[in-house]
Amino acid sequence: MKDILYIGQIKASEIADKYGTPLYVYNEDTIKRNYKNLIENIKYPKTEIYYACKANYNLTILKILKGLGAGIDAVSPWEVELSIHIGFSPSKIFFTGNNVTDKEIKYVKEHNVLINIDSLSELKRYGKMYPNSKISVRINPNVGAGHHIHVITGGPNSKFGIYYNRTDEIKQIVSDYNLDIIGVHMHIGSGILEPEPFLLGIKSLLTTAKEFNKLDFIDIGGGLGIPYKPEEKPLNIKKFGQRLTEIFTSYAKKHGDVSLRLELGRYLVANSGVLITRVNTVKKTPYKTFIGTDTGFNHLIRPMLYNAYHEIVVVDKMAQEKTQMVNICGNICENGDLFAKDRPMPDIEEGDLLAIMNAGAYGFSMSSNYNFRPLPAEVLVLGNEMKLIRRRETIEDLWRCYE
Ligand code: LLP
Repeated sequence: MKDILYIGQIKASEIADKYGTPLYVYNEDTIKRNYKNLIENIKYPKTEIYYACKANYNLTILKILKGLGAGIDAVSPWEVELSIHIGFSPSKIFFTGNNVTDKEIKYVKEHNVLINIDSLSELKRYGKMYPNSKISVRINPNVGAGHHIHVITGGPNSKFGIYYNRTDEIKQIVSDYNLDIIGVHMHIGSGILEPEPFLLGIKSLLTTAKEFNKLDFIDIGGGLGIPYKPEEKPLNIKKFGQRLTEIFTSYAKKHGDVSLRLELGRYLVANSGVLITRVNTVKKTPYKTFIGTDTGFNHLIRPMLYNAYHEIVVVDKMAQEKTQMVNICGNICENGDLFAKDRPMPDIEEGDLLAIMNAGAYGFSMSSNYNFRPLPAEVLVLGNEMKLIRRRETIEDLWRCYE
């Protein structure tokens, strides 16, 4: 193992010295590799990759994904607006809202973006507003999975979608308003590392799909996980891709040509990013050693919100023996502000830089100004070049909305 962390061909410490900490750094090549890995392993000819931009909507990252040919899965009118601003064609943007208002429906529709309907109530409201038009419906296939209960979005406890056994009601509303269902969709959860829940969900979704005869696409959502813990194995994308190809080829033969759509966030960007932070305080109590850093759960909430594991390395002591158990914590005034609890680490001194790994998805995009702290800067690395892609917030940014 190398002792020093490189991002692309640049030392992480060099990037941190140039732009300061805390700092999000992304590697463009990793995003491209992830995308390629997907499209090369799903051989079904009509496969479409949509990027769930909630995972990371840095404008430069959106442009990279646009360049690769991805569409956008948007979940708010503002994500729609952002994607249009970046130059995604409205026909490559898909809006999956939840508990949306009529105003939001109108806004998205007026941008010519296809709406994925989440409830029978929304279907009726939409039908009244836009009869004789095209829609997609989100189905709850009665299957859910995910790395944490908060992110399971299918099955009996999920608020999302129209339950799979309500197709008669869907058909009634569709006929009342002369709507065309051109897509069916599911998203069963996030951070899933086994193929089984997807395959079960798809089986259920395809049963629903057969009820509609004007489908252009079947969207199986996102949710493909990545290994965060050293002992976790990546999902076997080759096998999964083969299975998807078999299933969709056989479906298309019997029921007509449809596109297979996936809308992925984490899988495309999580491992491209790290959050670099500097240790400023090492505190030993009679019970614990606390490694205090210059960031906190305001900048990366996953450990606190989901008890999520992120690998943490000392950027220039990667290969050193782990000699102590420590709590790695942030600078926020809550005791739950921990990135790692009782984690074996090498010797750490004040001034050392840490990199919190796999922070490219749901890191910056879930960050906040809690404790009235500005958001970190974001930097993109490509090979031996680095560039700032979002400047660090300033005190002016923090108070610009106040009257
Ligand atoms: N499609 C829909 C409709 C979604 O709601 C989501 C994520 C995705 C696609 C993409 O899921 P992915 O491929 O990234 O798993 N903040 C949590 C994850 C929440 C995901 C919400 N929806 C986390 O940090 O683990």
